[in-house]
Parts: sequence; structure tokens; C-alpha cells
Amino acid sequence: MAYEQWGIGIVGLGGISNMHLTAYRNAGLQVVGGADIDPARVETMKVKWDLPIATTDVESLIAHPEVKIVDVTAPHFLHVREPIFRLAAKYGKALYVQKPLEQYYASARKLVSIAEEAGIPLMVNQNSVFVPGFQVIERYLRDGAIGTPYYCQIENRNWFDLSGHPFYGKGERWVLSDMGVHHLALVVHWFGSWRSAYAIMGRDPSQKGVVGDTWSVMNIRFESGMQACIINNWSYFGHLRRPHSVEEVVIQGDGGAITATSEEVVIVAQEPPAEIRPRFTGKWFPDAFSNAMLHYIQALDEVKPHLCSGRHNLQVVALIEAGYRSAQEGREITRAEIMGEDA
Ligand SMILES: NC(=O)c1ccc[n+]([C@@H]2O[C@H](COP(=O)([O-])OP(=O)(O)OC[C@H]3O[C@@H](n4cnc5c(N)ncnc54)[C@H](O)[C@@H]3O)[C@@H](O)[C@H]2O)c1
Repeated sequence: MAYEQWGIGIVGLGGISNMHLTAYRNAGLQVVGGADIDPARVETMKVKWDLPIATTDVESLIAHPEVKIVDVTAPHFLHVREPIFRLAAKYGKALYVQKPLEQYYASARKLVSIAEEAGIPLMVNQNSVFVPGFQVIERYLRDGAIGTPYYCQIENRNWFDLSGHPFYGKGERWVLSDMGVHHLALVVHWFGSWRSAYAIMGRDPSQKGVVGDTWSVMNIRFESGMQACIINNWSYFGHLRRPHSVEEVVIQGDGGAITATSEEVVIVAQEPPAEIRPRFTGKWFPDAFSNAMLHYIQALDEVKPHLCSGRHNLQVVALIEAGYRSAQEGREITRAEIMGEDA
């Protein structure tokens, strides 16, 4: 089937759906329409994007025969997403879901079970995995350009006023679950299964729009021996910001180092000595969004496995869960503790 025949129905016509629409239009994909529970959003987005279907009736969009993929951009809470998953299951549609799948492991597990029991495909839109600059890093990592990697550090520090946002930061979990998840998914993709994690985190009281964590430092040990430190600090007033989507990535290996953002990648290799600055096109926004959906459609079309499946993403949500549990209990948490038989 041609890629444009994989009709997309977007459920949730809020902020990030604009990026989805930009990416899909750039890639020539077919958006059948969108649905939102807020009639004002429906009207605004219908006009802005000239959507063929824009409705408050979520079920009618999911049931539409041309909708093959339900693209969930409604907030990442079980009470919001479970009914959407059940509708996708009822009509046998593939699910594609914005990160985080859910903030809590038990809830994410439930969502994955709904998809698996219905036999419908589920991909989590962990767009960090599809960022052009990060795909370049991955190529050099896999080629052994820096030897065997042993340490990765990702640092994202900036200030955001979230006072006006309807749900970001309004629950007990925020910066690790909602922003750090980009980096957690990336390191799980690059370095494989994690073994244990230790985190510290806190809340800057001047960040009035956030109830939960506004900074977190997550140390992760992987089964391979690789170790990583993921810093998400959205309470930083200083002058050297590393804002999302140009957070700093450092990877050290026994034969060199990669220092990068999503827009610039520098590899310094020791043997033979070389400094490599690969040229590439594309940025996180919107290119990672089109790359991710194109990957999913290709896999669905060819009936092949895809990256960031719901089942695989449980490892990522388990890392989130481990981070909060570790910070609360002041100890290292293993993957087996969180995932049990799923580990
Ligand atoms: N870089 C990224 O990948 C990225 C960036 C921003 C947001 N996100 C994720 O996208 C999701 C949405 O974030 P946002 O910033 O667009 O939020 P938003 O509040 O701007 O939009 C969410 C929309 O969903 C609608 N909605 C709520 N419940 C619904 C339901 N049951 N059915 C249909 N629509 C419903 C709301 O009315 C709203 O219009 C979140 O999970 C967030 O983590 C990802």
C-alpha cells in the first residue's frame, strides 16, 4: 500500500499536534482528520490546517474507514488514553502515541496489555530516537568510531514558566517523566537493556507552575556495562542554557568521544587520530516527527517489527518509575524490581 494510503487520524488537537501536521504534510502523508473534546480547539485547527474532518466525536474519527493509524496526542494520563486505546482496539486500528506512554509503570503496562490483547500494533512516538543528528551519532557509535563506549551524559538545562499550561507539571511527576523521557528512550535505544538506576531530584520553589520535580539527575547502569547520567534541569536561570531541543550529548569510548547537540555532531577518534564533523540535514522539529511516522508506516506496510513498540517502551517507563522510587527511597533500584516478570 502506498504510504499516503496509511490514513492518519489525530486524537488531541492541542499544541504538539501542529508539529505532527507540519511533519506529515512535509512527508506527503495523508491526515484523514482530527478529533478533540474541546469544540474551540476543533474549530481553530479545522480552519488553520484545512482538516477534511475535525470533530469532537473521537469514536467517529477512529471508526472512519480511511483512518488506519490513530495518532494519540491527547495528554499522557491513563484516564485519557485508556478509552482511546479501547476504541482503537474495537475498530482494529494501529496506535501511535505521544511520549510518555504514561508516567506510571502500572498504567503503561495496562495500556500495552489493551493493545496486545486486541492484537493491534502500538508504537510510542519517542521522537528523540528519530532526530537526524542523533541518528548520525548512532551510526558512528555502531561503527566503533570511538571504540567501546562506556559513559554517556545528556544535559538539558533551561527555564520554563509552566504556570499557564493545563497539565504540564500539575501532577506529582514532571521533569523526569515528561522531558527526561526523551533522553531515557534514547539511551535505551542506543545502549540496550538497563540494569539499575539511582536518581536525585527536587523542585525549585520559584517554579510556581510546577508541583513536582523541576530538576533531576538520573544515573543508569546498563546490562552491557555502559553507564549514563541524564540531567534534566528546567529551573536554571543561568547564562549557559542547554535548552531542549539542543541539549548536550557527550559519549565517551575507549577510542574517542562524541560531543553533540541535535544540530551539531563532533567525533574525536584516537586511532587513527581524527576529528569528524559530519554534515547532515534536518532538525528535531519537525524532522524527527516525520521520520518516526515514516518508520512506523514502513514497518506496518511490510509487516515487520518497528522501533519503540509499546512492549519495548515499558523499559523506558520502568526507568521513569525507578527514578522517582530511587529519589524517594534514596537507593539504587533494579529493573527487575519495577518490571518483575516483564524484565
Ligand atoms: N517533543 C515532543 O514529542 C512533545 C512535545 C510536546 C508535547 N508532547 C506530548 O504530547 C501530548 C500532548 O501535549 P500538548 O502540549 O499538545 O498538550 P495540549 O494541552 O496543548 O493539547 C492536548 C489536547 O488534547 C485534548 N484532549 C484532552 N483529552 C482528550 C480526549 N479524551 N480526547 C481527545 N482530545 C483530548 C485537549 O483538549 C487538548 O486540545 C503530551 O503527552 C505531551 O507529553 C510531546
